[in-house]
Amino acid sequence: MFEVLPSLPADPILGLSAAYKKDTNPNKIDLGVGVYKDEQGRTPILQSVQKAQQVLLANEDSKTYITQQGVQGYIDAMLSLILGNGHSALLEDRVSGVQAPGGCGSLRILAELLTRCDKDLTVWVSDPTWANHIPLIGNAGLTIKTYPYFDKANACIKFDEMADCLSQVKKGDVVLLHGCCHNPTGADLNHEQWQAVVEIAQKTGFVPFIDLAYQGFGDGLEEDAYGVRLLAANLPEVIIAASCSKNFGLYRERVGLAAIVNANAQIKTVTQSQIQNVARGIYSMPPSYGGALVDIILNDDQLKHLWMDEVTEMRERMQSLRAMLVSKLAEKGASKDFSFVNQQKGMFSFLCISPEQVDKLVNQHSVYLVGSSRANIAGINSHNVDTLADALVAVL
Ligand SMILES: Cc1ncc(COP(=O)(O)O)c(C=O)c1O
Repeated sequence: MFEVLPSLPADPILGLSAAYKKDTNPNKIDLGVGVYKDEQGRTPILQSVQKAQQVLLANEDSKTYITQQGVQGYIDAMLSLILGNGHSALLEDRVSGVQAPGGCGSLRILAELLTRCDKDLTVWVSDPTWANHIPLIGNAGLTIKTYPYFDKANACIKFDEMADCLSQVKKGDVVLLHGCCHNPTGADLNHEQWQAVVEIAQKTGFVPFIDLAYQGFGDGLEEDAYGVRLLAANLPEVIIAASCSKNFGLYRERVGLAAIVNANAQIKTVTQSQIQNVARGIYSMPPSYGGALVDIILNDDQLKHLWMDEVTEMRERMQSLRAMLVSKLAEKGASKDFSFVNQQKGMFSFLCISPEQVDKLVNQHSVYLVGSSRANIAGINSHNVDTLADALVAVL
């Protein structure tokens, strides 16, 4: 039966990884897939995670199924981390949530839930957005449209155009916003722009859907939750998909959170039952391990502080790599001003160079980055920054 199926090309980002692995150039540089790397180019297990693993190993006494919503201590701790302790939505018991397999799993089950509300619903995503948003949301059957977001020529957000577009959105449409560290551009909304988004949502009646995959990687754990907290404080409904892949370094454990801030506690019980039912029909219940580790870390003062220090270290390292690259490029006489890279947040930057220039970087200089010019800043280190800056100067 399978002969009817066409063979598909590799995912462009994962395909880039495979090409990087095959490349025999000893000076090759991987700025492709979005994983954090240290100065040695490794993606280490965080110390807080290692300690939590020991606690879990000593205490876990069964491998029976966990409950359908996942590890409740994990869900509660994540909601406090995202919304802040004492957020009115939490105090009023208006937030439903389940542990899900990664941010991707969260996005997908929330998209499936949206089709149950209205199968003709439109989800607006930023232009550009993370490539996987399209299949994760679109394959659930929802219509996807884009709103203007990033001005590549001037390396900044085109907020007026974004606001104009969102002002035309229909009541009940859903608008996907990156909570922080926008993937792929690294360009985030400032406080005034978040406030403007709230006001547009209040006027038009669109429902915000926040993807929060990098909390702590932008300006800080609290600071990066500014937008989601503001929306949740001012609008009756907010949809949230969060991931622990990056800030806990738990990529392969697949741990995320799908949550909904509801208009009241009664609707919360309905959406809670619905999300669990969606998940039951896809994977039944989530894997326990990653959620159990995050539960241990966030509910232990010492481990939580250790983790917060580790997040700070990762964030500050990425900020210093941005500064190092920008100054190297200026030093080497780059014909383009890259200082905008210092303003971008999180793991990614759009270098705002052409697809042809990216192609030359990959094929002539073994510098691997996505065709859009998205570079994983964490792939830079003091050993490769000169090679990278030389290659960039050469292709400009
Ligand atoms: C914007 C964004 N959302 C969600 C995710 C999902 O991450 P995961 O499924 O690995 O937790 C990612 C991962 O790269 C991402 O960049």
